Amino acid sequence: MDASDYTQVKASIKRSFNIDLDHYKDEQMKRRLDSWLVRVHADTWKDYFQLLTTDTTELERFRNYLTINVTEFFRDPARWDLVRQDIMPYLIKNARENPLSRELKIWSAGCSIGTEPYTLAILMEEAFPNQKYSILATDLDRGALVKARARGPYTQEDIRNLTPAQRKKYISAAAPYHASESLQKNIHFQEQNLITDRFDAGFDLIVCRNVVIYFTTETKDVLYAKFSAALRPGGVLFVGGTEILSGAAKFGLQNFGISFYKKL
Ligand SMILES: C[S@@+](CC[C@H](N)C(=O)[O-])C[C@H]1O[C@@H](n2cnc3c(N)ncnc32)[C@H](O)[C@@H]1O
Repeated sequence: MDASDYTQVKASIKRSFNIDLDHYKDEQMKRRLDSWLVRVHADTWKDYFQLLTTDTTELERFRNYLTINVTEFFRDPARWDLVRQDIMPYLIKNARENPLSRELKIWSAGCSIGTEPYTLAILMEEAFPNQKYSILATDLDRGALVKARARGPYTQEDIRNLTPAQRKKYISAAAPYHASESLQKNIHFQEQNLITDRFDAGFDLIVCRNVVIYFTTETKDVLYAKFSAALRPGGVLFVGGTEILSGAAKFGLQNFGISFYKKL
């Protein structure tokens, strides 16, 4: 698309989704948008935005497409409050009852540029400083993993949910923002495709949020069964704010509050 089309499309996207494409690389985003228009069989962007005014399913699909790599520290803060107040104390109690008093084994599946595993590390350091833990952080996007391993740079948007005290302690003082090196010590980053690669096992907590929303129902089902198999009994799967496992029992999982499922 040419520059003037792009300007108009960006304005429409900002109006419809409050997503500012100026934060994305132009050429890459234009290519991405062009291929989307072909995929949805629309002739022009004008036709497509007209369709979006009446078709909310399509609106959601397009939003998901646009936000595929979008992430931030403490995404959906209320859910992370639940991890801090309920889920983690429950998992730690379980681990302590184990005669071998183990470290907690955590997996951030689809970790993008690292904000999710670093969120976990901040939460552990702040609320459970004596608890041993390890975090496996995986993604199929090599570029995202390069940034995750480099601990940034992160944007102002990425860090907006951090408190001033957290910023002071865990993020570099000025832009470009980087997470502090200390957060990385228990995190192991690894390239992995959730659809095709094998999973490790024995996890206490699997965090897989805003990843499977792009997958078909069949693929999601396969994945949830694999996540369940990768959890230890009593372990917890933490999913995205809009994700619901219908028929969790068929995967050996039980709803454990909004966004959480416990392995039976
Ligand atoms: C929207 S981001 C979500 C990041 C983070 N979980 C969060 O909620 O903030 C989705 C991530 O899933 C990754 N992803 C998509 N398909 C994947 C797959 N088949 N295997 C592994 N990662 C995948 C993408 O590369 C992207 O980094």
